Amino acid sequence: MRPLLIDCDPGIDDMVALFLACASPETDLIGVTTVAGNVGGLLTTRNALDVLAFAGHPDVPVVAGAARPLVAENLRGHRGAHGDLGLGGARLPQSPSQARDGHAVTFLAEAISRSAAPVTLVATGPLTNVALLFALHPEAAGRLERLVVMGGAIATGNITPAAEFNIWADPEAAHRVLTAPGVDVLTTMVGLDVTLRTLITPDRAAALAQTGRAGRAVADGIAEYLAGTDGGMPMHDAVAVAEAITPGILDCRPCTIEVDYGPGPSRGNTLVSFLGAGTTTVAVGADHPALTEFVLERVATLG
Ligand code: BDR
Ligand code: CA
Repeated sequence: MRPLLIDCDPGIDDMVALFLACASPETDLIGVTTVAGNVGGLLTTRNALDVLAFAGHPDVPVVAGAARPLVAENLRGHRGAHGDLGLGGARLPQSPSQARDGHAVTFLAEAISRSAAPVTLVATGPLTNVALLFALHPEAAGRLERLVVMGGAIATGNITPAAEFNIWADPEAAHRVLTAPGVDVLTTMVGLDVTLRTLITPDRAAALAQTGRAGRAVADGIAEYLAGTDGGMPMHDAVAVAEAITPGILDCRPCTIEVDYGPGPSRGNTLVSFLGAGTTTVAVGADHPALTEFVLERVATLG
């Protein structure tokens, strides 16, 4: 089993991603760290604890990390589809578990260094904690087997015309991680080009709700979003976790990525070039129906 760490900001699709990780025998979820993003840090941490307990994994350590981006003062109140509490219409029982003492970045470094087998880290929120890990603990970061990032896009945006939310929320951190890591880490960016096409449609949500309480939680979580769209709810973060669990489920190509952290209209843009190649790849495609079924069938096994 491949050891897996997830740095997240739950978030409805972060919840689906955590469910997927909990339901997957290929990986061992050895810890979850949280960052401010979809909602503030206190809520993302509480949500992570509640989601893990709900999925039958209350003992997975949860450690809170950065409560704001590296440079920007705040996230300017983005909540979007996730609602005020972060999990949309899902109401999970409060877990008696508490976050561990200490900072997420210290926990990540120790967990990576301690692990006998190389660890895969998946980042499904703003990259603040990961940038700090690279800056403070380069040796530990260099031991990672792989970093998979949900964020960015080759050719689109969802919070501005040029930027995807996780990158836009902390572009300075994203620049450190994706453009100038200063550490040799195999990094894969899973962006909107792929995640926007991996959708939970209303029909699929209705069927999922019948499979058990986890499926019901996902359906409740996205109900309001689905009511306001003709399409479906993108499973952004779960797509990144799917690639971490089953490498190759996405078509990934070598590339370089330049993150724009300037103050202009392209702030948060990820400029992907296929001319040069280093240790970075970007997801360019997938069998989207099969990928959707892969994720939702795993969620259904949680009952
Ligand atoms: C990303 O932004 C957040 O709202 C989601 O949880 C996902 O990580 C998609 O742009
Ligand atoms: Ca997220």
